[in-house]
Amino acid sequence: MEYVYKRFSLAVLTILFLFSNNIFAAEGKYVFKAGHPSLKEWLLPDTVPYPEGNKPNKARIKLGKKLFFDPRLSGDGNMSCATCHNPALGWSDGLPTAKGVKSKVLGRASPTVFNTAYNSIQMWDGRKKSLEDQAMGPMEATVEMNMNTAKLFKWLNSNKEYISLFKAAYPGEKIAAPTVSKALATFERTAISNNSAFDRWVKGDSKAMSEQQIRGFKLFVGKADCAVCHSAPNFTDNGFHNIGLASWGNKNPDMGRYTQRPLRLMKGAFKTPTLREIERTAPYFHDGSAKTLQDVVKHYSQGGVVKTNLSPNMTKTKLSASERDDIVEFMRALSSPYKAISLPELPLN
Ligand code: HEC
Ligand code: HEC
Repeated sequence: MEYVYKRFSLAVLTILFLFSNNIFAAEGKYVFKAGHPSLKEWLLPDTVPYPEGNKPNKARIKLGKKLFFDPRLSGDGNMSCATCHNPALGWSDGLPTAKGVKSKVLGRASPTVFNTAYNSIQMWDGRKKSLEDQAMGPMEATVEMNMNTAKLFKWLNSNKEYISLFKAAYPGEKIAAPTVSKALATFERTAISNNSAFDRWVKGDSKAMSEQQIRGFKLFVGKADCAVCHSAPNFTDNGFHNIGLASWGNKNPDMGRYTQRPLRLMKGAFKTPTLREIERTAPYFHDGSAKTLQDVVKHYSQGGVVKTNLSPNMTKTKLSASERDDIVEFMRALSSPYKAISLPELPLN
């Protein structure tokens, strides 16, 4: 019985999925007027979510920030989280794909940390569940920070300043992977983008977006159907799609989500990234193949390059040059006023 039920709900889900384009592509569901209630679903919740046992507080943020910027978390002592997730570069690195240990070029781009607090799944292939779950990964990865973590914990446990920072942040807990992860995750939850021109327009400031940007938003949720994947409020459905990048045609392409969930649809599928602060994080896509937002929109306008296993949600709508410009201008409205982040003073050795 349970089996039949499962099969049935799978069929319903599949049908919903196949027709989701038509059901949800809905320019008509919005009134394009600053502050209109129909737009409210695009506002992020006022409070940033966090898991049980890791409620943010000042001591935790302070510790997490020091760890995030501390190159002694890497084997060669020359690379911190901020090397690849640099707040001055939109919490990314400005590179097509990341550079790891000994400047080795890696296969995937560094995603922004902006609004990862709202992700229900982390990494391009979704192999991590939460920020806490993700945080030790880069240190342990031999191609990234290449750190001997046993050595790291030994050092942290012998460092006077870190000892007192951990004590203030996580009293009664050991200095070990769980507390290091929780502190890093807490700091990452401060990288929030929720005050863009678009947010201000949604809240009622009619001057916040230009006419062209409003046209771009209409196209984004309507004709161009971007919002079917880059959905409200964080411009992501936390789902995985093959959008037909040229690199998918390579000899041994990156299989993306398929490595975690071996379903045909997941071959070459990657997580939908947020588009908040997108102007700051060029180049684009997991392989860094699009230099500019114009290039990105052209990619979609032609319905992808390599079409084997293409997501059924990829639009086949051709966009005119001026429509493409409008969408690019709209994406520029997703940046907040720049907030400089001061560098922390790191504990002495
Ligand atoms: C060598 C560059 C590099 C360093 C150093 C690095 N990262 Fe990353 N980070 C990446 C890349 C590349 C990915 C995507 C990898 C993938 O999806 O396979 C990533 C993914 C992430 C994600 C997931 C974001 C998302 O939207 O899915 C988070 C969070 C993150 N890193 C945090 C950190 C933290 C915390 C540190 C330090 C402990 C760190 N990173 C160090 C390059 C780096
Ligand atoms: C079928 C779902 C889907 C649709 C439709 C879609 N996107 Fe995407 N978008 C994705 C996925 C998945 C990625 C990451 C793909 C990759 O790198 O392999 C992405 C990446 C991007 C990026 C690069 C983000 C980054 O951080 O590198 C931008 C910009 C973007 N999309 C904008 C748009 C625009 C504009 C539209 C409409 C014209 C659109 N998307 C339509 C799913 C979609």
